[in-house]
Amino acid sequence: MKADLFNDAFFDSLSSSVLDVADAESLPPACYVDAGFYAFEKEAVFNHEWLCVGREAWVKEPGDYFTTHIIDEPIVVARTRQNELKAMSSVCQHRGMLVAEGHGNARGFVCPYHHWTYGLDGHLVNAPAMEKTCDFDKRSAGLPNFKVEVWEGFIFINFDPDAPPLAPRLTAVTEVVKPYDLANAEGARPGPPGKNPWNWKVMFENNNDGYHASRLHHGPLHDFVPSGLAVFPELPEDTAGYYRTNGTLHADASFNATQKALLPIFPGLGEVERNRMLFANMPPTLSLVIMSDMVIYLIVRATGPETHEMDTGVLVAPGAMEDPAYEHRMNMNMAAAYEIIAQDMHVDEMVQIGLRSRFAPRGRYSWQEGAQRAFNGWLTPRYQETWKKMKAEQAAKGLARPAGVA
Ligand code: FES
Repeated sequence: MKADLFNDAFFDSLSSSVLDVADAESLPPACYVDAGFYAFEKEAVFNHEWLCVGREAWVKEPGDYFTTHIIDEPIVVARTRQNELKAMSSVCQHRGMLVAEGHGNARGFVCPYHHWTYGLDGHLVNAPAMEKTCDFDKRSAGLPNFKVEVWEGFIFINFDPDAPPLAPRLTAVTEVVKPYDLANAEGARPGPPGKNPWNWKVMFENNNDGYHASRLHHGPLHDFVPSGLAVFPELPEDTAGYYRTNGTLHADASFNATQKALLPIFPGLGEVERNRMLFANMPPTLSLVIMSDMVIYLIVRATGPETHEMDTGVLVAPGAMEDPAYEHRMNMNMAAAYEIIAQDMHVDEMVQIGLRSRFAPRGRYSWQEGAQRAFNGWLTPRYQETWKKMKAEQAAKGLARPAGVA
């Protein structure tokens, strides 16, 4: 972050982003482009929040594992022989090689470099030719473990060992997604992630944004979900997630050329759910687009101040994939989805360029951007509280600037 931004005036100015949407303005552009701010944001957001890394279905059997990474932290998630779900750093505690890549099923992790061997829970089982090494204690050289929680079939981890549980702060979102029974929804593992040259918040804001639907996506693939039917519910102040619903012009609307669901409707849905779409967000990683017959989930993994990777997956009702025509129906959905996503991706890339400009604004919002304000309401207290904490630590140490801040 530029030195002149790291001060009380800057952090106080963020409060204008959490006013009522009629009065609010967007966050300062520096929050989206500045390397120092990204370093600050790692502490304010990523080091203490629950981060979605994948689906529990990806590690169904003992020995199953998958790897991922976020904010430069390589992670491996595994199911142990005792059927416990474990998440840990995949960084070998010898000299830093990654002990696992991709996904698969294993009895443990053997580091390819010098063959240190770790159990599925991360403990160090064997380290060859270390018997002459002084004070080497195998028990303290295991892979660092992270907290794990599963919400609706999604695996979340937390780097903070003292983090409070996620579910009690997600009650509002849990309630609205309940009819879809996401824990039992099915879907293939996503393919390779997209590598996107824009800040992770630009991605979140795009997915939250009801305002652009009738403009950027104007046409037969989207007009049945008009911006004017967006609804932004009031949520508890400490909520870990937020959502908007968007009314549709006909029941069971879905993104494809027929404008109607092509796959079986989630069995728990009532009239209310079948006449709207639901956009739910669990920042800083998980974003859901929920229709009557299909859920598109995006796992957004920040990789730098102006980059992120994104896993894009779909979930459908149990049994839907057994239909011999499933592949064809899904292809019809995805053909439309990719057209819409391509429009979004182009805008996101151009927005990132715009945000680097000296003329980038703190813009004002339409009422149809209530979810942007909700996102600001999630981010801003974390930014402001972390700044306060860093200042207090700085004062305690007698430092001129908070440690670690450029
Ligand atoms: Fe893993 Fe040496 S770096 S065993």
